[in-house]
Amino acid sequence: MWTISGAVWALKVRCPDPTDMASDHRRVVLYPSGIAFNAAREGDLLSAAASAGIEVPAACRNGVCELCEARLVAGLALNTRNQQTVEAGGQLMLCRTTALTDLDLEISAVMATGNNQPGNYLAKVVDVRSISHDVYRVELQLPRRRQLSFHAGQYLSIKLPDAEPCYFSIASSPSARNIELHIQATPEWVSAQKVIDALTSGGEVTVELPHGKACLASTPEKPLLLVAAGTGFAQMKSLVDYLRETSYKHPVKLYWGVRRHEDMYLRSLARQWQEEWPPFTFLPVVGDDEDSDWRGHHDQLVHAVLASGMDWNNVEVHASGSPTMVYTLMDALVEAGLPEGAFFSDVLEYAPRA
Ligand code: FES
Repeated sequence: MWTISGAVWALKVRCPDPTDMASDHRRVVLYPSGIAFNAAREGDLLSAAASAGIEVPAACRNGVCELCEARLVAGLALNTRNQQTVEAGGQLMLCRTTALTDLDLEISAVMATGNNQPGNYLAKVVDVRSISHDVYRVELQLPRRRQLSFHAGQYLSIKLPDAEPCYFSIASSPSARNIELHIQATPEWVSAQKVIDALTSGGEVTVELPHGKACLASTPEKPLLLVAAGTGFAQMKSLVDYLRETSYKHPVKLYWGVRRHEDMYLRSLARQWQEEWPPFTFLPVVGDDEDSDWRGHHDQLVHAVLASGMDWNNVEVHASGSPTMVYTLMDALVEAGLPEGAFFSDVLEYAPRA
């Protein structure tokens, strides 16, 4: 069912440009992932990658453990341990290197979006608690957590014996110690209730992760619009946690649509983000508000997003909810001028339109 596309190798050989030496920032491109970031003239490349939300394996941060090693494919760099320049073809440690020009680096330890292969793990159930009339917050602890990588916004499946896998967005950031899930379950919703019953009985559960391409492997250089319906909020929480950790500076707007007030199960958390983090705006959309004409197909949520006044040519949109909501939103935004390539949702992958 899932296709994880291979990374695209597209190495360009670039000669150092003397004009590069004078600019404030160097552009650094990592291959084969194709992920790029800006590095300040004076700072080390590992810190610059981290500021852009790019996860590079690292431990000593002093050029010793070699975990952050890369090969310089094009450009000119400086080894800050011995003050020697590094030329194309040389090895370098990102933690002890500054860029003298724009750089192309080969580092296979950095994954492209959606290019991390899913695996099965036995997870320990740390906590299961009810946080609303029908949503549970679940915390799972995975073995060898430091070696298990996923991107913000990806999801996992829970595999119970004799049952189809159940898929849930990961609600925590990739750096969190435990994995958080928000599971909506009622006795009438048999498969989800079965998962909650199994988790509540404690012990361990088999999970498969990571899944999903509608995620962030690095921080975008433009504003973000996040749109969630119901427990689609879980995916947005992972993105927001990650963006806050990377000190993302561009505006972030979160629209969260629910049918009834009591369905907005973490409204206080979203309000807290808005109080603590200046780039962030929270816009709740509730179907049973007075004058609401909620018709069950998320029209009100889509209308609210359309009225946001965003520049559709300069925004990246992430949406999480039912296929009806996602496609209604996508069609409306593309008609308003959003390029299709700037719209991301797992729905496009698991429920493609015929
Ligand atoms: S983190 Fe150890 S060499 Fe860079």
